[in-house]
Amino acid sequence: MENIREIREQFPSLKKNIQLSSCSQSAIHIDVKNSVQDYMHSLEERGTDWGYWMDACEESRRKFAEMINADVNEIAIVSSVSHAISAVLTSLEPHALKNEAILSTSDFPCIGHATLSQGKYDVKYIHPSTNTYERNITDKTLLTSAPHVSFYNGERLDIKGITEIAHRNDSLMFVDAYQSAGQIDIDVKELGVDFLAAGMQKYMLGMPGIAFLYVRKEIANHLVPRITGWFGQSNPFAFNSQEVEYAEGARRFDSGTFPMINGFASKSAISVLLDVGIPNIERYLRELSAYTLDYCREKGLEVASPLQAELKGSNTAIKVPNANEIEQKLKDRQIIMSARNDVIRIAPHFYNTKEDITLAIDELAKLVPISSR
Ligand SMILES: Cc1ncc(COP(=O)(O)O)c(C=O)c1O
Repeated sequence: MENIREIREQFPSLKKNIQLSSCSQSAIHIDVKNSVQDYMHSLEERGTDWGYWMDACEESRRKFAEMINADVNEIAIVSSVSHAISAVLTSLEPHALKNEAILSTSDFPCIGHATLSQGKYDVKYIHPSTNTYERNITDKTLLTSAPHVSFYNGERLDIKGITEIAHRNDSLMFVDAYQSAGQIDIDVKELGVDFLAAGMQKYMLGMPGIAFLYVRKEIANHLVPRITGWFGQSNPFAFNSQEVEYAEGARRFDSGTFPMINGFASKSAISVLLDVGIPNIERYLRELSAYTLDYCREKGLEVASPLQAELKGSNTAIKVPNANEIEQKLKDRQIIMSARNDVIRIAPHFYNTKEDITLAIDELAKLVPISSR
């Protein structure tokens, strides 16, 4: 990454910590912090400023749309990916001949929770390889879901290929892009997906509390979300409680008052990503990923991720005994990594360097007994 020193100056926490946890929470950019403070300042100084707050949220919607090559009216503002998938599921009408939801075993658990709890889908889980999709998606499938990148081991799925299979069987395609947005270039038109959701906390440089849902414009107006609210109406400020009149396009998936503080954080966070350029970030992270895989091999650590950088995102999952304990021990040494089940995940962003990774792996190797390497 060119001008890496300058970049790192803009993330003050990097002076204290080696932060390699973008699969969970990325480091905070100074502009994001300033935007959050700007919102707090508006509360303190002006009491209310609805127009200003709404503009910040609309700007974050516009920038997210730009980032994934969507139209602004194809984006809804929601509170989480769990909210996004739940709203999508309530908007579909399964019937006897078409009631199947095909989920991936590498989907984040909230996708399964939301789908099972609807009680109206015949839910099947399949291993994420294109061949299994070919065999399992049928004309009974109403919705197919796959993560763009696995939260567990960073495996990158062939979303375009899966979407083609789904569409051949007249199934809609939902993509959970929470682990890819901000680190991998996403073009929804190129992928052809129907829905794509991502929150701001991970590679998006923001905070939890806000997520975006893309709904392809050709289908949006045919959908009737049952998780809704006044912001999902064509005129929220009509204050008419006796009719439901959904907004046009994906905006019908907006629900209650926007999470204003997150709108402020998001508009700045996405601006930073767009300024650096997602294709540049993706290229750089692939280089770091290849280095991480090589260095883990050299240190004898067991990697649970694909062993080729082009088959994965930034996250490299390393098998360890007592992952949570190791996460804490590393944190005590100012190294921030994230545990999941039996792995510790090393997930750099564009502000990280090979030196960060070397230091983190050296410390990690000291904590992993030779017998389990
Ligand atoms: C891929 C993926 N999807 C969804 C979630 C959960 O998202 P939310 O808490 O916004 O529902 C996570 C959280 O780690 C994730 O990694």
